[in-house]
Amino acid sequence: DWTSSAFVETTIAELKETLGNDKVVLALSGGVDSSVAAVLLHKAIGTNLHCIFVDNGLLRKNEFENVLEQYKDFGLNIKGVDAKAKFLGELAGVEDPEQKRKIIGRVFIEVFDEESHLIQDVKWLAQGTIYPDIIESVSVKGPSATIKSHHNVGGLPDFMKLKVVEPLKTLFKDEVRRVGTALGLESFILGRHPFPGPGLGIRIIGEVTAEKVAILQDADKIYIDNLKEAGLYDQVWQAGAIFLPVRSVGVMGDERTYENVIALRAVESLDGMTADWCHLPYPVLAKISNEIINKVKGINRVVYDISSKPPATIEWE
Ligand code: XMP
Repeated sequence: DWTSSAFVETTIAELKETLGNDKVVLALSGGVDSSVAAVLLHKAIGTNLHCIFVDNGLLRKNEFENVLEQYKDFGLNIKGVDAKAKFLGELAGVEDPEQKRKIIGRVFIEVFDEESHLIQDVKWLAQGTIYPDIIESVSVKGPSATIKSHHNVGGLPDFMKLKVVEPLKTLFKDEVRRVGTALGLESFILGRHPFPGPGLGIRIIGEVTAEKVAILQDADKIYIDNLKEAGLYDQVWQAGAIFLPVRSVGVMGDERTYENVIALRAVESLDGMTADWCHLPYPVLAKISNEIINKVKGINRVVYDISSKPPATIEWE
């Protein structure tokens, strides 16, 4: 007999009681959990909730601007931080996937710590942790993993000494979505595919450069837009393009080309633990491939990933 509206009502009352007039800082990612947590807290304590949204340069195309806009429409007290150059600088020359994850996690913490120091007298750190994150806390992956999995990097950043408030920690994912709906969040945010914290950083195999990010963003946008246009986006659990550091020969007009490969991944899954590759219709795949090869400079070949998890993982790195 759990209802989202009753949850919203009691949680807001509890948050008001617990937080009083205290200031709270929260890292928004554009994902479902942190968004629902932010809106819930905003209803309880208004502008005492300070949201920080970091652009790590590894987000989807135009994602930072679009999401920031949506949050502002919601009245959230939010600061967008452009840290693209810092992330890309620290990633220069690094090829190893786990090394890249660690760097992205560490830089995020540094940027977030610096930003939270700018808020006078902040007392609480809010997180969008949900119940499965707690029971799977041995896993380094998951929506709020960016903060949790890096406790052992150097000394403890100051924001980690704050008291922690996690308003969604008793909920499962579908309940979080229902709470989001009750709060008036749109499907733009609630219906989004999961997206890893390290973002496109682990969808560019090997070294990450600004040029490769730009190419991947363009290819990924064509892919996702076509899935939406074909009415397939909501049937797919997660989809994304991957940049392969492999070049192959092609022909364009009379010219021989020697360019990189984009792989497309789309999976069906319940929780990301196991996954099947989606049998996307050939005409849709054909359109996506043509569009990517014709419009994205630097790509002359598109392949489709037909591996399930296990033994493959969803991400390539
Ligand atoms: P894999 O690749 O392990 O991915 O099959 C399962 C789910 O986890 C996401 N994922 C991550 N999420 N930080 C995250 O926040 C990470 O380092 C990370 N690696 C994978 C992946 O997108 C999929 O939804």
